[in-house]
Amino acid sequence: MLKVALTGASGLVGSRIVELLNQKINFISVPQNKLDITNANAVSRKIDQIDFDIFLHLAAYTNVIGAEKDRELAFQVNRDGTKNLFEAVNAKNKKFIYISTDFVFDGTTPPYNETSLPHPEAVYAQSKYAGEQLLRDKVIIVRIAYPYRARFDAKRDFFRTFKMFLEEHRPLSMISDSLMTPTFIDDIAYALDYLFHNYKPGIYHLVGSQAISPYGAVMLVAKIFNLKTDLVTKITYEEYVKTRARLPQFADIRSIHNNFYKMKSFEEGLKEIKHQLEV
Ligand SMILES: NC(=O)c1ccc[n+]([C@@H]2O[C@H](COP(=O)([O-])OP(=O)(O)OC[C@H]3O[C@@H](n4cnc5c(N)ncnc54)[C@H](OP(=O)(O)O)[C@@H]3O)[C@@H](O)[C@H]2O)c1
Repeated sequence: MLKVALTGASGLVGSRIVELLNQKINFISVPQNKLDITNANAVSRKIDQIDFDIFLHLAAYTNVIGAEKDRELAFQVNRDGTKNLFEAVNAKNKKFIYISTDFVFDGTTPPYNETSLPHPEAVYAQSKYAGEQLLRDKVIIVRIAYPYRARFDAKRDFFRTFKMFLEEHRPLSMISDSLMTPTFIDDIAYALDYLFHNYKPGIYHLVGSQAISPYGAVMLVAKIFNLKTDLVTKITYEEYVKTRARLPQFADIRSIHNNFYKMKSFEEGLKEIKHQLEV
């Protein structure tokens, strides 16, 4: 069985990957309470001790708003932590996969594929891109976007936030003139399974098959789960960013390198989730 060591196995994305693939992959979790990836000596010692074929690096400082105030920590974890891990894994001549984000694009010149030039604006995105730059051409870099799943109590993704607001019949002001590319985490797991077995360095966008506006996304959640939309209103991107952190406006992310796994549209993902929640 292929041995995949990983950081971030308790997170939103990592925990589902392990859940779905652990019958066919031997996962070796390296949790934060056993290894702080910002400590280079500890990383080197730990990586030396464990036996694996591929290292999947998911751990990150993921708080986009927090990173604006905590710039140093975001860079320590996302750039320096990645460097520490890569150097230790490379010293053992093992393969490395880095999970990155569509936020490396500023959202002004869509669509974006793997050959598009990143221009990260917010601190979180800059720190993740700094991680990418250390690894480019040497390893697999996988960019994901707006990941969502059926269940995960520890962290609510955007889909479950929308659903909760609709179920509680709370007002929702949604941007109608921007785009996001929602990605079903189960698809990320199965596409990664292919890359584990067909490792070839490069950048891969493992993203949903269709971009949609946040307003359109809420309306789809309401349609699939049969919820009322009378308290959902539209706002413009400019109105939204006046009071909140700036997000990339047109995050229409596509792939020219993923010719191996068919990713779902948001509607297809929601239908699958509805099915998963019913069984
Ligand atoms: N969620 C998104 O919307 C999104 C979108 C695009 C890309 N991504 C990328 O996808 C990956 C997974 O994201 P996620 O949402 O699943 O993350 P998450 O739920 O926020 O989990 C982050 C993980 O990183 C670990 N971690 C944080 N600091 C660490 C440190 N100093 N040393 C060791 N481990 C540390 C955490 O460990 P503990 O649980 O022990 O604290 C946790 O397991 C990240 O690389 C993220 O940048 C996420």
